[in-house]
Amino acid sequence: MSTKIKELSGLAFLPFPEQTEMLLSELKKRFSLNDKPTARYGDLFYFENLTAEDFSSGFPYWARCTMIKPFLLTFDSIGEAAGELKKIQRNWAPYQYTCFRRANLIQEKLPYINLKDRNFPVEIPSSPIGLYTLIDEHTIIASAETSSNLPAGTLHFIEDHENPPSRAYLKIQESLTMARLFTGCELPKAGDRCFEAGACPGGWTWVLAGLGANVFAVDRAPLADSLMNNPLITFQAHDAFTFKPEEIGPFDWIFSDVICYPERLLQWITMWLEYNPNLKMICTIKMQGEIDWPLIQKFADIPHSRILHLNYNKHELTWIHIPA
Ligand SMILES: C[S@@+](CC[C@H](N)C(=O)[O-])C[C@H]1O[C@@H](n2cnc3c(N)ncnc32)[C@H](O)[C@@H]1O
Repeated sequence: MSTKIKELSGLAFLPFPEQTEMLLSELKKRFSLNDKPTARYGDLFYFENLTAEDFSSGFPYWARCTMIKPFLLTFDSIGEAAGELKKIQRNWAPYQYTCFRRANLIQEKLPYINLKDRNFPVEIPSSPIGLYTLIDEHTIIASAETSSNLPAGTLHFIEDHENPPSRAYLKIQESLTMARLFTGCELPKAGDRCFEAGACPGGWTWVLAGLGANVFAVDRAPLADSLMNNPLITFQAHDAFTFKPEEIGPFDWIFSDVICYPERLLQWITMWLEYNPNLKMICTIKMQGEIDWPLIQKFADIPHSRILHLNYNKHELTWIHIPA
């Protein structure tokens, strides 16, 4: 047998870990797709009748990586597999569910990419990164073109188990990293004024103050003691949604991780953007039961914004608004 590439007509989606049901439900309910997957390779789902044109408004949020132009590569040796992938493109990330030893040997022969956990802040290169998966000893499904600049759509940080008052800090680290990747914006910095709604116990506030920004943190419950005396942080016990922008603004950045109905969050975002359309905003959209997709689309339709599901999101999406 010699190496052979066979282009496939469809698309393949890799869901976030343990989010397979969410991805399949999104395909059905958001995109009205009733097709069953043509093939399943571990957690990778291939649909032969779908094309990128079916996703002109964006790929599914619950797919951490979409293979946009998948192909099958048949090969004899590890060297041949790596050599064929290298001929197409420099960067390749693995998603493997079988033949792990062989897959590791192929990865070792490919040009180095950083698959380790990262320290925040980190700048993600915007170079294309392909995705490949061994489906047996002699066959790979792969795509040089994918929906993500992260290896297999994955971003994990080296965790700090001592200082942050909650694990929620990982969400703001990931969303700021992605905002910078998508738009080239700077991270919040010394001299920037941030408003954080629903800040208790203070994971996001801890990250923002750690970057040197001033934080006006609002919650009905107080922040962790360790943050209350930080000179960069001003805490107010209040309903964050009842402040009028002109009472407390101006701000450079607005954040919300409040658990509330998406309708309420959208109203609040609209109020702030009417006050200042140039605000940079990052908000968690918390899902309550069945997802109201037309409502989520209203967030997506706000100019200069995008929605994503983070590696550190649970049953929620993150809305990022960074004006040019
Ligand atoms: C998921 S927690 C926030 C975690 C926080 N981002 C962190 O990093 O530690 C949501 C918070 O929203 C607060 N909250 C809910 N409704 C609120 C409101 N109307 N105004 C202010 N805070 C609110 C809750 O008290 C809760 O502390």
